[in-house]
Amino acid sequence: MSDELRFADLTEDQLPEVIRIRARSFGLIKPAQQEGWLADAREFVANGRFFGVLAGDRVVAAARIWDFEQWWGGRPVRMAGVAGVVVSPDYRGRGVGSLLMRGVLERGKALGYPISALYPATVVIYRHLGYEFAGGWYKFSFPAADLRLLGGKDVKLRPGTPDDAELLLDLVASVRGPARENGILRWPVDKVRDWLAEDDNFVYVAEDGFTAYTWDGSELRVDELVAGSEATARALWATVGSGSSTAKTVSAYLSPQDPIHYLLQHEAAAEVNYQRWMLRLLDAPAAIAARGWNPAVSVDTEFEIDDVEMPANSGRWRLKVSNGSGELIPASGTTPAPRLSARGVAALFAGTALSTLRASGLASGGGAEDDLRLDAAFAGATPYMLDYF
Ligand SMILES: CC(C)(COP(=O)(O)OP(=O)(O)OC[C@H]1O[C@@H](n2cnc3c(N)ncnc32)[C@H](O)[C@@H]1OP(=O)(O)O)[C@@H](O)C(=O)NCCC(=O)NCCS
Repeated sequence: MSDELRFADLTEDQLPEVIRIRARSFGLIKPAQQEGWLADAREFVANGRFFGVLAGDRVVAAARIWDFEQWWGGRPVRMAGVAGVVVSPDYRGRGVGSLLMRGVLERGKALGYPISALYPATVVIYRHLGYEFAGGWYKFSFPAADLRLLGGKDVKLRPGTPDDAELLLDLVASVRGPARENGILRWPVDKVRDWLAEDDNFVYVAEDGFTAYTWDGSELRVDELVAGSEATARALWATVGSGSSTAKTVSAYLSPQDPIHYLLQHEAAAEVNYQRWMLRLLDAPAAIAARGWNPAVSVDTEFEIDDVEMPANSGRWRLKVSNGSGELIPASGTTPAPRLSARGVAALFAGTALSTLRASGLASGGGAEDDLRLDAAFAGATPYMLDYF
């Protein structure tokens, strides 16, 4: 067989090769975790979401797509979460990573995902392919003693069980949806159920919210806290803070705009752990149609997209936003209009102001009125995630 490089779906018997490349890319998978990794990987293979590059019959690169939904403008949008991108060291710097990622983009679109997101270990390769920074994974720290005193004692809480998986997803939707939040992942319900079954995941549920927290060394760490009212927010945070005799600090994955920042007497520790993630539109019209929009905003404007990697996104478009829905229609106008690269339109989708896009070379052309309309359409809550993948 020739050593020509080709993109391919991976099979189960190729997973040991992937493990070897991973070891050389991210470090060894601990023996105790190998079975879990393999079980997970087999699921990706079975679902046609584990890909590689073959040189002859040797696997020299791999990546997978998580089947996620991601909240945008308060609506969940199907999102291809790209992870585990690895190239064998002896094949790096020769375009193999790019070949792999081009295949992943094509497959992601064919599988029906209008958007894709990833956590970059290095941004260069992803920028070349049209991804741009869109949001962050924030971890704040609070004194447990302050949380303990937040009150909310009249709110009834009960321990959560794996049977609550669907309820928790509904609670998230009822709070995050109307708030038109951006960026958070919606995990498949069976993954939520597995997560709830973990012994070190402490879950308490209220009528309009819940929290899930755990030990992180000698600290407590809140992995998710959703509250539909001030009283419930107080009750859930105070419950976590009730551990203050043994845990001095509570860390939490949160939005930088989470209500807790406004409820607490003292600000969070100045040091915030922050990791950026990137976004790409795989199918621009589908992405615009799937996401939510501020129902009070009506916009009708035109712009151009120049997307070298995914040319179906390229061309002149008319964006119409009204009554909380949006559509992107091919347009043929000849008046000057803003022109955005693939990276530019990804950042715009995530709410980045036109002034930033212009100053970083991601947008050009058109005029100030166009910018005002696009800014008004895409403005929204700061995008954030609660988890790494
Ligand atoms: C990152 C990785 C996947 C890139 O694969 P690759 O086959 O070397 O990538 P390519 O040859 O297609 O390079 C594409 C572009 O990315 C750049 N690039 C690749 N690795 C880079 C790095 N470590 N730092 C900065 N730029 C890098 C290349 O220079 C090239 O840009 P250029 O055309 O402007 O020169 C590979 O180095 C790898 O497996 N690293 C270890 C694991 C890892 O970090 N994975 C990424 C997880 S998100």
